[in-house]
Amino acid sequence: SGTLTVGGLAEKLEKDTSEIIKKLMTLGIMATKNQDIDEDSIELICEEYGVEVEQEVEVDENDLDLYIAEDKPEDLVERPAVVTIMGHVDHGKTTLLDSIRDTKVTAGEAGGITQHIGAYQIEDKGKKITFLDTPGHAAFTSMRSRGAKVTDIAILVVAADDGVMPQTVEAINHAKAAEVPIIIAVNKMDKEGANPDRVMQELTEHELVPEDWGGETIFVQLSAIKREGIDDLVEMIQLVSEVEELKANPNRNASGTVIEAQLDKGRGSVATLLVQNGTLNVGDPIVVGNTFGRVRAMVNDLGRRVKTAGPSTPVEVTGLNEVPQAGDQFTVFDDEKKARQVGEARQQKQIEEKRGDKVRVSLDDLFEQI
Ligand code: GTP
Ligand code: MG
Repeated sequence: SGTLTVGGLAEKLEKDTSEIIKKLMTLGIMATKNQDIDEDSIELICEEYGVEVEQEVEVDENDLDLYIAEDKPEDLVERPAVVTIMGHVDHGKTTLLDSIRDTKVTAGEAGGITQHIGAYQIEDKGKKITFLDTPGHAAFTSMRSRGAKVTDIAILVVAADDGVMPQTVEAINHAKAAEVPIIIAVNKMDKEGANPDRVMQELTEHELVPEDWGGETIFVQLSAIKREGIDDLVEMIQLVSEVEELKANPNRNASGTVIEAQLDKGRGSVATLLVQNGTLNVGDPIVVGNTFGRVRAMVNDLGRRVKTAGPSTPVEVTGLNEVPQAGDQFTVFDDEKKARQVGEARQQKQIEEKRGDKVRVSLDDLFEQI
């Protein structure tokens, strides 16, 4: 997209500029004719005239890069890697996730009841790593189809006694499409029929060549059930994340993605959000997909209430009006009024989309110079 001035928008809508300025004022936005207006305001104004602005649903896969691109390099600091575990059925994804958490959650934190919020963080040598506790395929397919890129590193679990199976290949394809580095966890090394060489051989056919064989793919042999090789795996994750130079700006309004969400009888809409940039605070006005609200309370992966959550942190949030969907993006706004406006406009748009009775224009059409 480009930029659009108030006057430009008036022209596109075939209205008087003064009329648009007045409309903007009723939305609490003071603007002059030659001033650029943001996409949300454009959307709201168009809404007023019954012109629907199509959100570019096909959001860039590198949405995250977009968020980051807006930051000055000097504002960016290192952030934890977000890791997803993928692999064929029964190859040990859940067991691996459990053993990493049990091995690496520090003694001081062990007292807390680990709560299932769809993601957890560990700390290793002073550096955190975030693990998404959702089925890897879901994390890639549903989220990617919605334009969200949440994973920095994919762990591909392959059982050493079973080798490469259909879902292993599927996982490889997802990770490759997302251009995410892959670390191979050759699991079940304790089993009698374990044959890591065969796994390596089979993966070579998918351009995943081990370093020992002149390639660049990291292979770690482990036994998730015996908790052997977990340290090696974590070390490799740290290594890869260093190479990736993952960064974010903690000093701005938070944005990120919904990991999972549900309706809780007592607490209402409960959503696990992964903060990808900025810092999320209790009390923040927030738009999440087509819903909005104000962050009422936040709970971390250890079940503790927290007031803030920085980049790469998963938190369970209450205070949203409705239940969003996994993969929905969220953004914090400076004031609640704006969040409400954007949220309501999106809801309205969704309702009307179902009715299909609106004139449609795309933002790109609007931005296109006459
Ligand atoms: P789905 O979620 O169903 O796709 O399976 P998964 O990949 O999460 O596998 P899960 O962790 O549930 O493990 C499947 C079975 O393999 C269980 O019976 C585990 O106990 C067993 N298993 C997992 N890791 C190991 C291992 O390192 N060694 C051995 N011997 N068994 C393991
Ligand atoms: Mg599982």
